[in-house]
Amino acid sequence: LVLGVDLGTSAVKVSAVNRQGKIVAQRSFDYPLSQPHPGFSEQNPEDWVNGTTVAIVELILKDGISADAVKGISYSGQMHGLVLLDHNKQVLRPAILWNDTRTSQQTQEISDQMGDDFIEITRNRSLEGFTLPKILWVKENEPQIFEAAETFVTPKDYLRYRMTGQLEMEISDAAGTVMLDVEKGQWSTAIQQAFELPASFFPPIIQGIQSAGHISESYALFSGLSTATEVFGGAADNAAGAIGSAILKPNMVWSSIGTSGVVLKYEANAEVNYHGKIHFFNHAIPNKYYSMGVTLAAGHSLNWFKRSFAPAEDFTELVASAEQSTIGAHGLLFTPYIVGERTPYADGDIRGSWLGIDSMHQRADFVRSVLEGIIFSFKDIFAIYEDAGAQFDTVIASGGGAKSALWLQIQADIFNKKVVVLENEQGPGMGAAILAAVGLGWFESVEQAAQAFASFGQVYEPKAENVEKYAQVYQMYRQVYTQTVDIS
Ligand code: XUL
Repeated sequence: LVLGVDLGTSAVKVSAVNRQGKIVAQRSFDYPLSQPHPGFSEQNPEDWVNGTTVAIVELILKDGISADAVKGISYSGQMHGLVLLDHNKQVLRPAILWNDTRTSQQTQEISDQMGDDFIEITRNRSLEGFTLPKILWVKENEPQIFEAAETFVTPKDYLRYRMTGQLEMEISDAAGTVMLDVEKGQWSTAIQQAFELPASFFPPIIQGIQSAGHISESYALFSGLSTATEVFGGAADNAAGAIGSAILKPNMVWSSIGTSGVVLKYEANAEVNYHGKIHFFNHAIPNKYYSMGVTLAAGHSLNWFKRSFAPAEDFTELVASAEQSTIGAHGLLFTPYIVGERTPYADGDIRGSWLGIDSMHQRADFVRSVLEGIIFSFKDIFAIYEDAGAQFDTVIASGGGAKSALWLQIQADIFNKKVVVLENEQGPGMGAAILAAVGLGWFESVEQAAQAFASFGQVYEPKAENVEKYAQVYQMYRQVYTQTVDIS
């Protein structure tokens, strides 16, 4: 068996997976998110360690998983979070998470100081969510803590340190700090110098499938695991999700609808340069990369609609009710910018809109416009790919968007691509398990393991007539941002 540890923002989920890729047992543990001031989002790293340990103890004691059978462990982690450690590797302050937005000033300082060089080195724009602005915020606002800080790590790399006693940073998470020279796969000396961060502050980098040692004696005592269990680097959650969903060919793009939405493309090399218009990170697979764009309110838009206008209905009924409307929702257009938008606008202030409301419209039209608006915002990410000449023909859908035949057909028609669902979708924990399985030598490559563990299901083909209608509506959708940016 291998354990895939999925360290999320609201919970940790540990899956025990056998050599055939089947989950034989799974336990999760929730932990709180602290928001001490508006825009702040923090967590206590000790909660991650305790939650993971409780889940592992339950797998052993309640599900009968034998510690000796667990040959390897790997991780998927919430990205970008900052854990600062002192000279004894003690945590200095609560972790500042990916969804914390206190760092607007520092984000601007980074762009002002480094300009386009920053984008060329890190392949990303400087955004509030990333780790470097968080470090600068601590430097400016909590100088005593910054003085005491000897090093830092991201969340799942901290958890791995606590389980092995070895401190390292896995490369896909290192890329998400925006301090990595992405093409070289090394910490950027230009960034270290620009922000006066000593090289000793940066942990050594390891690959996702690389061994990070074994379970330490103290963690073995604490958890019941064996010191013979080997531990592997793991991956940032989006990289792990893509691996778990077998998005491992350049012709494939992932369309994932959770609270936020992600469009992610596998990149075989770093040749294509999107100049920061979408994120571009090192993959957890050696010398591979992935690019991604984010729609901040994807499932969140539908949640908001349900909470506000249809609290008694379940999601399946609500989504199905959009069948009573038609393509283009009888002329009703929704933009899902209800909490701002990340890709393509990187604009936290823009807000959503409904256009074309007519007295003949019914609730089904509003539901349909929300489903369509979310997919139009994904189409904006596709447009960046198309402008850069990136070719792909298959979209693998997952999350909420993959649970409804109607929403899948809307995706095929708006994208004008073949949309495929996964059988038995398992999420980033499966990606973590795959990395451990490859690290142990059960498979020759991540690609081979992912093909063995994930299987594709039903295919939705675009329908020419619908594609044409949606292309017209999308032309209108594209104009809404520029037309509303000044009034929102
Ligand atoms: C990616 C991002 C989120 C987090 C969620 O850039 O900020 O998807 O990875 O954990």
